Amino acid sequence: MQIEENKSLKTLNTFGIDAKAEYFATIRSVQDLQNIISQNQKPIFILGGGSNLLLTQNVKGLVIHNSILGKKIERDFQHCVYVSAGAGENWHEFVLWSIKKKLGGIENLSLIPGRVGASPIQNIGAYGVELKDVFHQLEAVELATGKVHVFRKKDCDFGYRESVFKQKLKGKFCITKVYFKLSKRPRLNLKYGTIQQTLEDQKIKKPTIKDVSNAVIKIRSSKLPDPAKLGNSGSFFKNPEISKTHFNKLKKAFPNIVFYPLENGKIKVPAGWLIEQCGWKGKRVGNTGSHAKQALVLVNYGNATGKEVKKLAGKIIKSVEKKFGIKLKAEVNVI
Ligand code: FAD
Ligand code: EPU
Repeated sequence: MQIEENKSLKTLNTFGIDAKAEYFATIRSVQDLQNIISQNQKPIFILGGGSNLLLTQNVKGLVIHNSILGKKIERDFQHCVYVSAGAGENWHEFVLWSIKKKLGGIENLSLIPGRVGASPIQNIGAYGVELKDVFHQLEAVELATGKVHVFRKKDCDFGYRESVFKQKLKGKFCITKVYFKLSKRPRLNLKYGTIQQTLEDQKIKKPTIKDVSNAVIKIRSSKLPDPAKLGNSGSFFKNPEISKTHFNKLKKAFPNIVFYPLENGKIKVPAGWLIEQCGWKGKRVGNTGSHAKQALVLVNYGNATGKEVKKLAGKIIKSVEKKFGIKLKAEVNVI
């Protein structure tokens, strides 16, 4: 296997940041990874599609680009099907593959960039569905030993944009394969946002999973910048959850506040709204800025450095905290 030195990661992260990997290797199998682990002493960083990263410096040690492929129907039951996908598979292509096989459950997660292996890391979610809703189990190689472990759902501690792999086990495993339970008789989830409206506009009365996927693609394309044209990593911050008491105070001061009550009694406030209220939406600061159609997405106008984006993120955090008393937390992995 080829190990490259001083490799530019500019085309391998959707922010388009020009940072370098000290060493870089591509793996196409578990065996490739185990071979590397047995010979390597350097710190390892696993790279997928690079769509949830902000590189603020060169990456020391060995960057391993997970390109393990393969999609398979593992078990076929009357109502559901267990499928597996290699960590290096493109997420959206996997969604389209499932839809083609008339297997439902992930159509609302259409067009999320990145690879299958990273999907459990932050429990990807969109339009009322999260990865955990269809997750069965995953296989991962322990970077310290090369041993293969199986993680079932209960082992993953999934939460809103969270899992054990972002917390206790951060940087300790390389996910190699993910297993999903998909449905032959899917119950469509049309509750969120403008999905229903988009389908009605198209005069679709009895939508299929393909119709839902197309509607999600249409909505996403209308507000999220295409990383191929404008560097970004999607939502830069998580949507904060605040206490009812805090919310009631804010509601008095800002009667138009957008909010979603949660089952746990807390209130979710969209970070995009908070950032827009602070005047950042569409604002450009040097080579970076907050996107004009979605304030939560920070963008690279071409030559931004990771440090520049991080600095802007810091200014946004400060101003939101000052105005609303809410401290935004990054969703993106800042390296
Ligand atoms: P990377 O960015 O390569 O890696 C992310 C993290 O996971 C890193 O810490 C990395 O070390 C680790 N990692 C990656 N692969 C592995 C592996 N195989 N084993 C162990 N660790 C690994 N996310 C959502 O949840 N919902 C959305 O709607 C959404 N929309 C987006 C829209 C845009 C335009 C963009 C650019 C991003 C969006 N994202 C969204 C964020 C991103 O697409 C997801 O988080 C995605 O799962 C990241 O996958 P990746 O392969 O690019 O991961
Ligand atoms: N809003 C504004 N101004 C903005 C942006 C949003 O006021 O500039 C308000 C609007 O009221 C809007 C609400 O915020 O109705 C919610 O906005 P949107 O539907 O665009 O969703 P979001 O909360 O900003 C979240 C996820 C996205 C996911 C969408 C759809 C997070 C951090 N982000 O965004 O995920 O695609 O919902 O489900 O939870 C990502 O994680 O990278 C990502 C893009």
